[in-house]
Amino acid sequence: MNRRTLLGTVAAAAIGFAGFATAGFTSDLPPLEKKDRYKVGFAQMESNNPWRIAETKSFHATAEACNWDLVATDAAGSAAKQVADVDSMIAQGIDVLFLPPREEKPLIPAVMKAKAAGIPTFLVDRSVDPNVAKPGEHYVAFLGSDFVDQGRRVAEWTLANFKGDKGIIVELEGTTGSSPANDRKKGFDDVMAKHDNMTIVASQSGDFARDLGRQVMETLLQAHPDVNIVYAHNDEMAIGAIQALELAGRKPGDDVLVVSIDGTRDALQAIIDGKMGVTVESSPFFGPLACETMNRYAAGEDIEHWVQVKDRIFTAENAADHVDEAY
Ligand code: AHR
Repeated sequence: MNRRTLLGTVAAAAIGFAGFATAGFTSDLPPLEKKDRYKVGFAQMESNNPWRIAETKSFHATAEACNWDLVATDAAGSAAKQVADVDSMIAQGIDVLFLPPREEKPLIPAVMKAKAAGIPTFLVDRSVDPNVAKPGEHYVAFLGSDFVDQGRRVAEWTLANFKGDKGIIVELEGTTGSSPANDRKKGFDDVMAKHDNMTIVASQSGDFARDLGRQVMETLLQAHPDVNIVYAHNDEMAIGAIQALELAGRKPGDDVLVVSIDGTRDALQAIIDGKMGVTVESSPFFGPLACETMNRYAAGEDIEHWVQVKDRIFTAENAADHVDEAY
């Protein structure tokens, strides 16, 4: 007997059978009834990069395989619209919500409202502020990578492979207030702080976007022409930075080491072309994991609060082996 069933049975004995369906579990998370088909909400935050497009495609492909009627929205880069999209899904009577929260704080009301409406919510890929909304209490679980570890792994690879004596580092941060930007910064910066020969001379947001990454890099290059390492929180900004460096007459991969996170096709190609050193994987293919986790929850299983995704690392040694399967 699993924990939810056991607790339900004990509680049913205590409160009488009539109360069992709604009051039986210690956790007051909304339950998910077992059904042949589910109406599933997926509230995407934006579609301005290959990573987001691959994630949305993964949910659409899973809808067929997992018997979902998928209600998918695109908040076009606005946290306020993402909250409104969840409101609309609640009104449409979704059974379950998958939410990649654009930023940690502004999406908390969406999580709370879904719970109040009796809709089990799974956060996918990004998280919300854990001091306010908690897995197992306000939402079922977070499905995603260890972003701190991704930043740490990039830093460690950089320390092992940087050829110069003194690293002059420019950091291109992701969306301000998002969990990957906060955590990837912490992971990388904490490692670098222990090395006197490494200095982060500038750290600025490029909003996880290629064009903004290019623009920010252009500006930072003027203030820090001696930069020899660029750490971008995602591949799109890394590719933008490579464009800015080349326009300024620099040679990425030669006089500037560019390192990043995601594993997109363009990044793997840049590694093959010798312009980028490393990208630590952050997979966007959440559909199958979402289906499996939701079905486990519907079957009454206890779901771990963090369903962790394991990430690979791509370098000159293996990029060519993976570029064809990349997005
Ligand atoms: O939340 C994951 C990040 O969001 C990816 O690294 C980035 O490319 C995306 O926009």
